[in-house]
Formats: sequence, C-alpha cells, structure tokens
Amino acid sequence: MAIFFMASGQQKGDAQMEKFVKELMSKMTLDEKIGQLNLITPGGGIPTGEAVSTDVEAKIKAGNVGGIFGVYTPELVRQAQELAVKNSRLGIPMLFGADVIHGYKTTFPIPLGLSASWDMDLIKRTAQIAAVESTADGLNWNFSPMVDLTRDPRWGRVSEGAGEDPYLGSEIARAMVTGYQGNDLKDPRTMLATVKHFALYGAAEGGRDYNTVDMSRNRMYNEYFPPFKAAIEAGVGSLMTSFNDVDGIPATGNRWLLTDVLRNQWGFDGLVISDYTSVNEMIDHGLGDLQQVSALALTAGLDMDMVGEGFLTTLKKSLEEGKVTEEDINRACRYVLEAKYKLGLFDDPMRYVDDSRPSKEILSAGHRQAAREVAARTFVLLKNEKDVLPLRNSGTIALIGPMANDKSNMLGTWAPTGDPELSVPILEGIKNLKGMNAQIHYAKGANISDDPEFAEKINVFGTRIDIDERSPEEMLEEARALAQKSDVVVAVVGEATEMSGESSSRSDITIPEPQRRLLRELKQTGKPLVVVLMTGRPLAIPEEYELADAILVTWHPGVEAGNAIADVLFGHYNPSGKLTMTWPRNVGQVPVYYAHRATGRPNPGDVFQKFRSNYLDVENSPLFPFGYGLSYTNFDYSEIRINNREISRGQKIEARITVTNKGKTDGEEVVQLYIRDMVASITRPLKELKRFQKVFLKAGESRELSFTITEDDLKFYNFNLERVAEPGEFKIFIGTSSENTKEALFTLR
Ligand code: NOJ
Repeated sequence: MAIFFMASGQQKGDAQMEKFVKELMSKMTLDEKIGQLNLITPGGGIPTGEAVSTDVEAKIKAGNVGGIFGVYTPELVRQAQELAVKNSRLGIPMLFGADVIHGYKTTFPIPLGLSASWDMDLIKRTAQIAAVESTADGLNWNFSPMVDLTRDPRWGRVSEGAGEDPYLGSEIARAMVTGYQGNDLKDPRTMLATVKHFALYGAAEGGRDYNTVDMSRNRMYNEYFPPFKAAIEAGVGSLMTSFNDVDGIPATGNRWLLTDVLRNQWGFDGLVISDYTSVNEMIDHGLGDLQQVSALALTAGLDMDMVGEGFLTTLKKSLEEGKVTEEDINRACRYVLEAKYKLGLFDDPMRYVDDSRPSKEILSAGHRQAAREVAARTFVLLKNEKDVLPLRNSGTIALIGPMANDKSNMLGTWAPTGDPELSVPILEGIKNLKGMNAQIHYAKGANISDDPEFAEKINVFGTRIDIDERSPEEMLEEARALAQKSDVVVAVVGEATEMSGESSSRSDITIPEPQRRLLRELKQTGKPLVVVLMTGRPLAIPEEYELADAILVTWHPGVEAGNAIADVLFGHYNPSGKLTMTWPRNVGQVPVYYAHRATGRPNPGDVFQKFRSNYLDVENSPLFPFGYGLSYTNFDYSEIRINNREISRGQKIEARITVTNKGKTDGEEVVQLYIRDMVASITRPLKELKRFQKVFLKAGESRELSFTITEDDLKFYNFNLERVAEPGEFKIFIGTSSENTKEALFTLR
C-alpha cells in the first residue's frame, strides 16, 4: 500500500529535505533503493541507442523505476505517475524527463544559432518558454543545456552547443539553467535542468561522434570545464556524463571526474545521471562485464543509469560480493530522492499534470512571436556587397533552392517534441510579409543531395532530403530560366537538419555538390546573388564566398523560420548575430579557433614563411573568425581609454570605448572585449573573450561603453592547476570581432 507523503514541515531548506529523505530511506528495501537509480524510456523521444525498456508497467509497480523519459501529455504522465504513486509499495513519484533542447513545441533556433545572438536575456527567455511548454505537457526534468565546448565542425553535435569559447559558453550555461529552473523549482512552470555531457565530449578525436578524447588537465580546467562550473554555480539540478573516455577511463566510470572534481572540488550537490547506455558501453570500451562496469560507475559517483539497467540488474550482487558498498547505493538513492523533493513531487506528485494547460500554454501566439523575434536575432550576415541586402520590396525575386519552400528542415536537429508541419517555409514567410509588393517566384533548383544512400542516412526521422523525380539538369534549367527573368536571386542552400546533431559527423564540411553547382549556375546569370545558408555547423565555403553577393547564415531557425528570414531579408530586422565558432577555409585547418595558444614560431601577417607554424597550401587565418558578423549599418570604434596603466592586486581597470553607428540604419552591435596575458608561467591563448555588450544604436548615434576588468578576470589555472593571476603585462582588445579590434596595454603589479 502506498504511503501518503507530506513533505512540508516546520524545518526549512536543506535540513528539512535531509530529514525527509532520511526518513523515507529508512523505510526502503535495498531493491527499492536500487530501483530509484533506474531511468527508463518506454520508447518515446529519440532512441539514441539500443535499449528501450520492456515491462515498464510492472517495473514501476515493483518500485524499479526512478524516472522515465519520452512520455508526454498530462494524460500519459498521470497514468504513469499513478502507477508509481498508487501501486508501488512506498508510492515514490517518478521524474519525467525529455530532451527539450531548443524549445518544446515552439521550436527555437538550434543552440549554436541561439549562441550567435550573444543575447543572454533572449536565450534565457527561450529556456523559460521551453520550461512552460514542457511542464504544461507533464514534464519536470530537461536534459539540457549541452555546454560542451565545440571546436571541431566535423562533429555533428556542435549544433547543440554554444560554440568554441569558455567565457561565452559559461554565460550561456547560466542563462539556460536559470531560464529552465527559475527561482523556485517547485513552481509548476519551471523544471530541473541537466548540464551535459560531463566532460570533454566536444573534443572527440577527428570530430567523430562517441570517439575517444585525450586532453591535458590544463586544457580541461582552463577551457572545457568552465561552462560546467558556471552551470553548477547557477544551481543546475542534475548533470549527465559523457560517452567518451577521460584520460583513459570513460566519463561514466571516472571517479576522478565525478567525485574528485565534481563533488569535492566544485561541491556539486545535484543528481548525476549517465547518458543513454553509457554504463553498458563501458563493456565495449573494454572495462569488463555489465556487473563490473555498473559497479565502476556507481563507485565513481554516478547516481542514475539511463536505460541500460546495469544498476538494476547487478548492484545487489555487487553489494553481496563487496564490490560496492551500501553507502554507495544510499548516496545515489539520496540524490535521486532529493531531486524529486526539490521539484515538490512529494508534496504533490501531480504538480506538473494539469489538463487545462497544454491548449493554453503550448504554441501560444506569444510564444510563436517570440520564436520569430529570437530567430531573426541569431542570423549572421557574412557578406553584403553593394548593399544587395536588405532586398527592395519591388520588382521580381527568384527564390531558389531545396530548402526555399520546405517545412522538414526548418526545426533543426534534436527537436523531437517539435512538429515540422507547423513550421513556416521561407516562400510562405516572404509572401506573407506585411505590405509585400515584390513578385516572388520559386524553383527548387537542386536536391540537397543527389545520393540516395546519403539521403537514407539523413531521413531517419522523416524525409529531410527529398530527391526529386526530375533530373538534376531539368531542375537547374528551371532555376536558371527563373533567375534570368528576375531582378535578384535568393538561393536557400546548405545542410538538411539531420546532417548535424548526434551521430551526424562529417569529414567534408562543404555544401553538398548539387547545391554548389546550382550556385555556380545562378552566378552565371549575372543577377545579384543572395545566399541564405542553413546549417547546423560552420561550413567551408571559400568558393561560395566569392560567388555570392550576400550571405546570410540562418542556422536551422525553428518553427518561425520563414517569417524570421523574411523579416531580415527585407530589413524589418537588421541582422546582429556574430559567429560563436570559427569558420575554416577548409577542413584541413580544423581545429581552428581564435583562442589558440601562442606558439614559438608565430606567422606574422599570415603569409607563408619557411620554418614558421603554418601550411604550404592555406593561410592560418580562418575564412570567418569567432565573433564575426556584419550588419546593414556599420559601426565605428574609437581608441580604447583605460583609467589606469598599472594596477595592483585587488584593483580594477576600467576600459572605455565609443562606438558609433555610421550608417543610415538603426542596428545592434556586439562589442567584444578580449585579453591577452603577455607573459605567464605557461603558454596562454593569443586572446580570450572576457566581456561583451550587445548595444542598440540609432543611425548616427554614438555611445561610450565601459567595461570593468578585475583581478579575477586575469586568473587562469597554472601548471599545478592553481587558479592564479600572474603579474606582468596584459593587452586589452575591444572590437567588432576577435580579429578586428582596438588595443591597449596595462600591467598587473
Ligand atoms: C543521448 C544523447 O547523447 C543525450 O544528449 C540525450 O540526452 C540522451 N541520448 C537521451 O535522449
């Protein structure tokens, strides 16, 4: 018979939680405790591995399930929660999780796109809306944000992250966590966030997903760890381990990572869960059988086992054989119960189940409007010759390309809760634009790819690459003819949604050949050529950069794609996005990122010199640097004014700069401040982002911006992994991108 819980009492905060959980655990059998460590999916969501649980109902009733994911709607959540609350011996409620990566039903741009907005309030707002919609559908736990640093565009999952920079990544981690969790996890419109994937997953060798990682501790502490630490400081409730190994031991079984660093150094007191079968995968990593790897994971510090059921099926035996301790199991169980407590599930297990909410709160007009406004703010203008953009609202426009009138590729990867059918195609967005006077003609022009085998790999969740019945020549001919009789050509090309994301690594990061051919043909017509580039990763586009008169990167913009793109193409919104990952000239330059460490043989001027660090066949510089992005207006930067050339410890430096909008259009600019530590005890990056401000300036307006730099901003982990600021000279850079900056020097005494 189920025991009815009343978690509210006289005591407040942690002490109250501790007492409650302790009392509950004193009533639990060993099996029930182990049951809490089991996270299953009955098959909803995206099955990202092989395990899908069977006998779900029986397991819940037996107290063998701590949490479930991929179950949506109040009705289904209620059914499942009732099984746990009414039919299991102790009636412990379950966690209901999901991958709500960039919006629930109101799908926002992919996270890499969101990061390009450099707008923390905006990013936080998307997480808040995602939490409102998810909780309206019964969920209380999100497997987001992914804060893995990404410096290798071959890796498909760069689309899910915030790019290459530790500082920006940390700011975004904070914004997402506070967006999902709000100030009160018991509020039924907030949910538990999960920071993932701990750790180093973004550095998979060769950019190949699930591949091995080998990294110095210096790089971990200075570069790959900070966004996790920021999420923890922001109070994130749970953390997911990664698939890769860390110094030879897979993260999921790595005690140094999960206990020494996470718990002891950082004081994380939330729930630690595995990734999908990442416990079981340690068998293939070569660390033993299921019992061994499960014991390894538990003793390393893992609390909950996602779908692999290694904990459920082997921990009792391991306890009997002395391979794990009761204390290990109690610790893990306690963290699971505490997560439920924090969500208020013991007070009211049906807190997130309200049939009246979905119709009012999911996909509301306000949320869709937000999706439109957000998307426009994530686009990055890479080129705009002769001000071909914004388009004039007159004459004839040829809208050409395999994604120009398409719904299936607008949402982007990892949008399992979204519905592609609800998305606005670009053709529709342009035609619907208020006061549209231009004539719009459409032709597909090319397939995303002509290769049926490739298409099959991409079309796993529905048709994304639709190979036309017509021959490529016929399609090209139609497009060419249309372009000939138009004033301007807008070509929408790039990657289908599932060409990035999980298990979607590419060794060739160019636009697929049929679309490149289309662009060459269109260029031949002599008409101004605007390229709208949809992508989930940085692409190598040196040829397209030459061909196009304008290039607007729109990522995969989400449910309001067509409307947002129309807004920007026609100048209703002036683009303000900046790249958060470097775009290489070719894949051979990868990894290429701005915060590269100083070498002993720098290559001044980026011109080949023998016996310097460079290539024979390509420059060192990328095609587009981190922080790059144009606007329909242009911004002028004054010299930097600093209040002090020399500071002592504990003092601050104030750097001021005046930014002027020199053009005729109002616009926003992301003003970026970088620092270089000129002399240190270890090699240091050539530049590191330390501050940024996104400012709106009316045409002709000037504004003085002030940035304060503290001693803390100058700190880094030294060879002994102590966080220190070392005396000496520092250079400050302020500018419009990581490459285009003003400079000033100061000294820390
Ligand atoms: C595997 C992915 O790596 C992870 O990000 C996701 O949360 C889980 N599958 C659950 O779907």
